[in-house]
Amino acid sequence: MQGQSVLVLRVDSPLGPCLPPPRAAAVVATYKVIPTRGLFGLMIRSIVYFCAASLIGSLAASAQQHAPVRGQKEFAQSCGFCHGEDATGSRAPDLVRSPLVNRDSGGDLIAPVIRNGRPDKGMPGLPLPDNTIQDIVAFLHQRVQEAARSSRVGSDYPLERLLTGNADAGRAYFNGAGKCASCHSPAGDLAGIAKKYAPLNLEERLLAPRGGFVTLTVTTLSGEQISGKVDHLDEFSVSLHDAAGWYRSWPRDQVKVSVHDPLQAHREMLTKYTDADIHNLFAYLETLK
Ligand code: HEC
Ligand code: HEC
Repeated sequence: MQGQSVLVLRVDSPLGPCLPPPRAAAVVATYKVIPTRGLFGLMIRSIVYFCAASLIGSLAASAQQHAPVRGQKEFAQSCGFCHGEDATGSRAPDLVRSPLVNRDSGGDLIAPVIRNGRPDKGMPGLPLPDNTIQDIVAFLHQRVQEAARSSRVGSDYPLERLLTGNADAGRAYFNGAGKCASCHSPAGDLAGIAKKYAPLNLEERLLAPRGGFVTLTVTTLSGEQISGKVDHLDEFSVSLHDAAGWYRSWPRDQVKVSVHDPLQAHREMLTKYTDADIHNLFAYLETLK
């Protein structure tokens, strides 16, 4: 597989049956490994894409199923062989505790890895349809949250495995490039944070903090502006509780909505951190006992 781009398909994956019959002979264990370079590769890929398109009908039928549930099945079929069915790693790394997966937002980091792979390191590019990738992303995010919540990997997860960073570098980043000090203080809201959370939970809080209410400002056609705590927001309707506590709702296409998310800064930082920044910050936060 080294150095060449390949397409690996589980024989029982939804795309398995799409492969032309002579290729069925090219079964490696339960996988089909097919070079995707050159004209032949192009042909295979178009067949697979064509089949993927014809699958959209059946995908739509299962659309009412939960994305993480579909993602779990897809993951087990396309990724489980290498990453373990529960994504905690097998012949390929643990994705539940992967910094890249933890930093992902809506697939922005995971999707390119799935599409392009890292062929030189044993991860093939998998040309899956966008919605399948999104389902897999939803599944991986769910696994990360479950792992952080589960007591099994919570309090007893060995600190040494997380504590590989440099606390001084973390402090410098906190007060400098990371701009953390503009919202937090080690002597104020973050005092004793390392006592408050077990190591793995602290890392999760750093990467995906909770709390901080999302508020909305709705501007109606007549120009009236109403702000309040979000109740519901999707492409069809928006509702909130206004300052006086009243519930108000509107069809989405009749108002303008602006969203104020106190965790917006955190989400944006996820795309900026390097792995070293995260490890250093974590080592620094662990000193706040
Ligand atoms: C043939 C084995 C194989 C398959 C199949 C496979 N992977 Fe991987 N994957 C790997 C290997 C090996 C690595 C580590 C590459 C490296 O060291 O950079 C990896 C790395 C990754 C990473 C990056 C992790 C990190 O922390 O940098 C992600 C995300 C990932 N795989 C997701 C997936 C998903 C999702 C699927 C299924 C759609 C999948 N992989 C299928 C072998 C595989
Ligand atoms: C624009 C403001 C802002 C910036 C900048 C910011 N945060 Fe936060 N952070 C928040 C908010 C809001 C929360 C949600 C919890 C709360 O309300 O305190 C939070 C939560 C956290 C938590 C979890 C706290 C807990 O008790 O659960 C940690 C840890 C944290 N941030 C670390 C950092 C670090 C490290 C940086 C810099 C890399 C940073 N934050 C930058 C606003 C910010």
